[in-house]
Amino acid sequence: MPSKSPTHHLLVLNCGQLLTLKGPRRPRRGAEMGDIGLIRNGAVLMQEGDILAAGPQGSVRRRPEARRAEVLDAQGRVVLPGFVDSHTHALYPASRVDEYVMRIQGRTYQRIAKAGGGIQASARRLRGMTEAMLARRLTEALPQFVRHGTTTVEVKSGYGLEVAQELKMLRAIRTAAITSPIEVVPTLLAHAIPARYRTCPSAYTTEFRLRLIPSVARKGLAEFVDVFCDRGFFSLGDTRRILASALESGLKLKIHAEQLARTGAATLAAGLGAVSADHVDRLSASDIRALAKSQMIATLLPGSVLHLASGTFAPARRLIDGQVPVALATNFNPGSSPTPNMQMILSLACSQMRMTPAEAVTAATINGAYALDRGHRLGSLEAGKQADVAIMDLTDYREIPYYFGMNHCWGVIKRGQIVYKKG
Ligand code: NIG
Repeated sequence: MPSKSPTHHLLVLNCGQLLTLKGPRRPRRGAEMGDIGLIRNGAVLMQEGDILAAGPQGSVRRRPEARRAEVLDAQGRVVLPGFVDSHTHALYPASRVDEYVMRIQGRTYQRIAKAGGGIQASARRLRGMTEAMLARRLTEALPQFVRHGTTTVEVKSGYGLEVAQELKMLRAIRTAAITSPIEVVPTLLAHAIPARYRTCPSAYTTEFRLRLIPSVARKGLAEFVDVFCDRGFFSLGDTRRILASALESGLKLKIHAEQLARTGAATLAAGLGAVSADHVDRLSASDIRALAKSQMIATLLPGSVLHLASGTFAPARRLIDGQVPVALATNFNPGSSPTPNMQMILSLACSQMRMTPAEAVTAATINGAYALDRGHRLGSLEAGKQADVAIMDLTDYREIPYYFGMNHCWGVIKRGQIVYKKG
């Protein structure tokens, strides 16, 4: 009889600050966002891919499984759940650095887009790439997330702008996900109206709804459908139609809302039961009330505000004080936020949006997990949850945002396995 391989245990010892994020089994709102379940001198014991115990070192070490565990000594460092980056466009054909320089010289993101640059430029380039080339690009990009402490990442399509190209992107995402050290969550994105549909945008919406969404749902290529509802992109009416079709096909909803202009997209998405509304830089008081009444997460993407120098950061304080659960994500993309570094996003959240470091950690972990409908399994270090952990080379978690523009990550564990160790 073949012998059964022994159960693998991993014990992370000497966590100077262990941020468990232990709490209610739902997105954290209001004052809850400031409670990160901090334990000094803690330990985490993992069995196979899950957490067996996380708490004060003495009690975790007394567990019988701790005796046969592989040990990782955190040597007093900060240990927290791996970041859940719930909004990225990490698969794109090439950098758009020329546009960056044009913007520095005064051209706006919208003017560049109107002249055929931006998303349209990425789409033209993507057409010349094979599925294998795209899969390789994403495969090479994902370790960048890991090295910065991210253990789950959402990746959107949206640079295809036609049925076959969007499907090609989603298949490439699926291929890259198979060998990825971290979890990849695929989203189908209605990103821009293709140039040939300029005079009849609703015709593209119809193609998206009737051909693309059913095909994606049938093939299981995406979990979410997202729409860039904004001035110069999808109208509120077309957005409503796309999201309704997504629901009919059994897909979950996300939305790009209130980034360039206030359109009412966030309130629309709240009414449709979307999982998250993302960007939300320009919200009215009634939008905030609608969000607070819903179950939706507001995912803030301050990297874009920095990179586009738009000057309007999402009203994080009003959202948190108004009882809206807030998440943070990188929005990694070539046009508005070319960074995979969640630590930098925490810095922006604290320095520019007046979130406290504790609120920012909550937004980047447990609330990010809920923004991907994975809060029951990811985002906190509690018995029974998946063992996804980041270790920062710091002794005080508040220094994650404080020392900005740096990479503090010292180690990353995904499903109980060490997938990155500095040096
Ligand atoms: O979230 N807003 C739409 N999409 C991205 C930009 C993508 C691009 O410019 O390539 C964003 O900012």
